[in-house]
Amino acid sequence: MRWLPTLLTLAAALGCSSAPPAPAPAAPAAVDRADMRAHFARATAARDALLAGDVEAAKQHARWLADHGADEGAEVRGPVHFERMKAAAQAVAAAHTLGAASTALADLASACGACHQGADARFEAPQPLLPPMDDALRAHMARHAWAVEQMWAGLVTPSEAAWARGAQSLAEAPLHAIDFALEGVDAKLVPRATTLHGLAASAAAAPAAERGAHFARIIATCGGCHRYRETPSR
Ligand code: HEC
Ligand code: HEC
Repeated sequence: MRWLPTLLTLAAALGCSSAPPAPAPAAPAAVDRADMRAHFARATAARDALLAGDVEAAKQHARWLADHGADEGAEVRGPVHFERMKAAAQAVAAAHTLGAASTALADLASACGACHQGADARFEAPQPLLPPMDDALRAHMARHAWAVEQMWAGLVTPSEAAWARGAQSLAEAPLHAIDFALEGVDAKLVPRATTLHGLAASAAAAPAAERGAHFARIIATCGGCHRYRETPSR
């Protein structure tokens, strides 16, 4: 049937004559917001696990992020950031140490932020009130948690203001060794508190591109102390 290809060519030619010369660019696909919120919940759960020093739990949440079906909308919106986000989730899932997992998770958060910025899709970060300025260890820790939440929003949203609020709050004066001793914290761990506040001071001054690295060191320091608590789960 030698005429079949000819007919097909003819049909294609006829079809083409009424179509525009080049296909119009695809309309940017919308991103599934519920899917985005699920990403946020998972990434935040992975972060909380690292804050508690629990690398295994963080890896499980990251595995979900790495395996979660490709959202076509997200891929169209920012293929580069989408791939980077997936690769970072893989890296968290494959990490063997708190430091490596923290670095990869911070890269994940930066990829979220880069896509939101590129797609002009910044969203409102939650702005809870700063917990009271009380010297008790628990109140101090509650402020730390607040600060990390703000810095996280600073990366993911992304938001200059949230990053600055969080880093500045975290840079407040560390507790005295005696406050930790009274709570039964091992004296060997106390220098980490000083390290943490120094890290926060440099994070506050860091340019946007370096914030992920600062965030990684900070959460690894929190987790590095909490993992030695008697009740590791928070
Ligand atoms: C490839 C681009 C891209 C990546 C990567 C991406 N997002 Fe998004 N995200 C968007 C876009 C676009 C919107 C805006 C959707 C809209 O307004 O309809 C959005 C919106 C959101 C929202 C707001 C949803 C709502 O209820 O309005 C949250 C939360 C969010 N993203 C979290 C994340 C987190 C966390 C990550 C990383 C783990 C991430 N996103 C990675 C593109 C991306
Ligand atoms: C020097 C060690 C040390 C460092 C560093 C540290 N913590 Fe803690 N954290 C503790 C101890 C000890 C407790 C347990 C306090 C208690 O149960 O009364 C605790 C408890 C907490 C709690 C639970 C408080 C409660 O009400 O039970 C949170 C939240 C917290 N820390 C957040 C953080 C964050 C966020 C960071 C890092 C920015 C951090 N911590 C850094 C030692 C540390």
